[in-house]
Amino acid sequence: MELLDGKVLAKAIKAELKEKIASYKEKGWRAPHLCAILVGEDGASQTYVASKAKDCEELGMDSTVFRFPSGISENDLLAEVEKVNLNTNIDGLIVQMPVPEHINSLNVMMHIDPSKDVDGFHPMNVGMMFKGLDTFLPATPYGIMMMLERYKIETSGKHCVVIGRSDIVGKPMAALLMQNTNPGNCTVTVCHSKTKNLRELCLQADIIVAALGRPEFLKADMVKPGAVVIDVGISRVDANNERGYVIKGDVAFDEVAAKASYITPVPGGVGLMTRIGLLQNTLKAYEWHMGSK
Ligand code: GUN
Repeated sequence: MELLDGKVLAKAIKAELKEKIASYKEKGWRAPHLCAILVGEDGASQTYVASKAKDCEELGMDSTVFRFPSGISENDLLAEVEKVNLNTNIDGLIVQMPVPEHINSLNVMMHIDPSKDVDGFHPMNVGMMFKGLDTFLPATPYGIMMMLERYKIETSGKHCVVIGRSDIVGKPMAALLMQNTNPGNCTVTVCHSKTKNLRELCLQADIIVAALGRPEFLKADMVKPGAVVIDVGISRVDANNERGYVIKGDVAFDEVAAKASYITPVPGGVGLMTRIGLLQNTLKAYEWHMGSK
């Protein structure tokens, strides 16, 4: 078994991005600029946004976080999005999800200028991705594709089972794995809560992407010997430690690792590659914006 090491890979790709950004600055260009809008006080969201800001700083990118109380109206939030859309010094905008229930998240996503939509959540960018056109890819599937590419995992003609059909992971993951690219050209099966014979389907898989959000769901008796196993899960599970929780993936790591050819750890796997996906998208937005000036 070989570990698909997000730490090593993220470090290498960050060094490449840092160099690229430095070379743009040497040409006299301003720094790339990522903006995050954070509504409310959700602990996990605060952590995610803080790590995104830290990544930007490390690479020489600017970042701004706009914080709003959970009571902000949808109209006021849309007006804030519009301000960022019009700010030519900002390349990428993410509105951290989830937003409070009284706000329609689709309205928010659809309000973001598609050329700044570095999450790749705007329906226009989703459509572009499905057509195989050059656009922002949702960060997690994008990060996984980079991982498969850099570790030279053979995907062509392989049977890939994606467990989970979310808009941000399962659906785009399936689209990217099936397209005529390298990595890609997989035969993809998407499984979800209504799937029958999930275990039998998983046993046929050369590659499994577990993205359902259930800690240690994928067990060794569901995995074919030699399969490649990608774990997207990051669940907080109560524990008797200082933080009061531990992070668990969707894969029962120890028992599955004994059977797999390659496997991602949690933490230290897909999560770090997701962060790289967002940074790559921000750089792409910057290159588009600067190039079109
Ligand atoms: N909440 C959890 N994941 C994400 C993400 O990738 N982008 C945004 N905007 N919010 C999230």
